[in-house]
Amino acid sequence: MNSRTFSMSTNAIGRIEAAEWLDGPAYTLANAAALPHRLAGRTGQQTRNVLHGTWFGHPLHPMLVTIPIGTWTLALGLDTLEAERGDKGQEYGRAADLAIQVGAAGAVVAAAAGLADWLQSHGRARRVGLVHAAVNSTALGLQLISVALRRSGRRSDGRLTSAAAWGAMFVGGYLGGHLVYRHRQGVDQADRSVEPRDFVPVLLAGDLPEDRPRRILVRDEVEHADVPVVLVRHRGRIFALGARCSHMGGPLDEGWVLGGGLVCPWHGSRYDLESGEPLDGPSTCPQPRYRTRVRGGLIEIRREQEPGAAVVPADTAAGRSSGEAGSAAAASLGRKADEVLFEHHELLRGMFRRIEDLPPEEPQRRDLLRTLASELEIHEDIEDAIFYPAVRAVSEDVPVAYAEHQQLADLLAATLKLPTSSAEFEEHLRVLHQAVDHHASSEEHSMFREAQRLGERRLRELGHALETMLEAERTSRFQRAFRELKISLLEGVGRGT
Ligand code: FES
Ligand SMILES: [Fe+2]
Ligand SMILES: [Fe+2]
Repeated sequence: MNSRTFSMSTNAIGRIEAAEWLDGPAYTLANAAALPHRLAGRTGQQTRNVLHGTWFGHPLHPMLVTIPIGTWTLALGLDTLEAERGDKGQEYGRAADLAIQVGAAGAVVAAAAGLADWLQSHGRARRVGLVHAAVNSTALGLQLISVALRRSGRRSDGRLTSAAAWGAMFVGGYLGGHLVYRHRQGVDQADRSVEPRDFVPVLLAGDLPEDRPRRILVRDEVEHADVPVVLVRHRGRIFALGARCSHMGGPLDEGWVLGGGLVCPWHGSRYDLESGEPLDGPSTCPQPRYRTRVRGGLIEIRREQEPGAAVVPADTAAGRSSGEAGSAAAASLGRKADEVLFEHHELLRGMFRRIEDLPPEEPQRRDLLRTLASELEIHEDIEDAIFYPAVRAVSEDVPVAYAEHQQLADLLAATLKLPTSSAEFEEHLRVLHQAVDHHASSEEHSMFREAQRLGERRLRELGHALETMLEAERTSRFQRAFRELKISLLEGVGRGT
């Protein structure tokens, strides 16, 4: 999408988001639509839970819209074949009719789920949701007209109407995407910090009365954030959940306990105190859970980690290293991993400075750049293969670090293509230097610090493995030839364009 198309679509959506006049009809429609649910009591709530997707763990609406999208798109193709083949295309026509009817049935159910979600939306998102619903209802209406036209024998008018319906559905899909990706409708909004990994004291046990939720904060040093947690004493037991509601971030600590669950004051999602699972919607997503215990009159909590978020508590990691061989044996293994990598960071930084200090027309710049490219690639290789997998258990930084490596490789490729005497090269070199500096510094300040939890022995083992691989990558003839070929290709492809 170029910037002109982008600004056209954002202008159109911006106008919808700013249309305050939509609030009146939205309010009336919302009240009317909510009434049947209220009249139906508990059954109404259960129906809503199904429509939201509370029992499936995800919003239901996006799953259901695949029915009209798939079938109506299929019908568009079948209609085209029918039109092309004339009398011989009747089979295609019949299949298209069926696809449109199946799609219409799916669209009705999807609309019911979408309406349930829309009732809980606010402000600008509610306006966009209203237009999204109107556009998709137009698509459905057009398809029903098309069905009638086809039945009365006006097949070509029916096909045209279906094509118009498909266009409306496409616009409706765009607005639906905007609701999810920009307004975060249906997206998990809870705080999912992994901290605290170990039990930390948070409150005097005597300060937590029965059924009166209480908010405390735990510190996440990596995210530089205080994460709110709600404590609840219910029937004598103490529970702790993330305080930011996963539905839209409502404050659960300002909610109330009902039927063994904690209710969000904003839209009434009710979470099981023990498991964090939503018992009632609109939420579809469990709250972060914390294990609790009381020690010396203080409530202590520890985060129950999400599946796959393997973290190693500090005491376990430290125990692993101190219980093994003595420090003399550990020292004989050589330098620690963070020391090896820090030294290599310094080497890379020095190479940047040397290139920058050379005059632009100096041909040696190209040779130095190639050496830098080679060392940078080796650095990324040894971290990706040895260091990152080992520290993943104790550091949250690894996924971002992998992503940054990809960006560094992209920047390096763009820089290699440029003539080293050009102004554009200067700019790219500066940006690459900044990107490498940012990446290396964040490793040094955060990841290397957290890596200490692996214990000295493990770090020295890793350091040994890193140095061995570094040396092998530098000296192996095959690896060198392969790297040089890659660099030459990068320099050649797209150069001068
Ligand atoms: S924010 Fe909507 S139910 Fe909590
Ligand atoms: Fe790195
Ligand atoms: Fe690094």
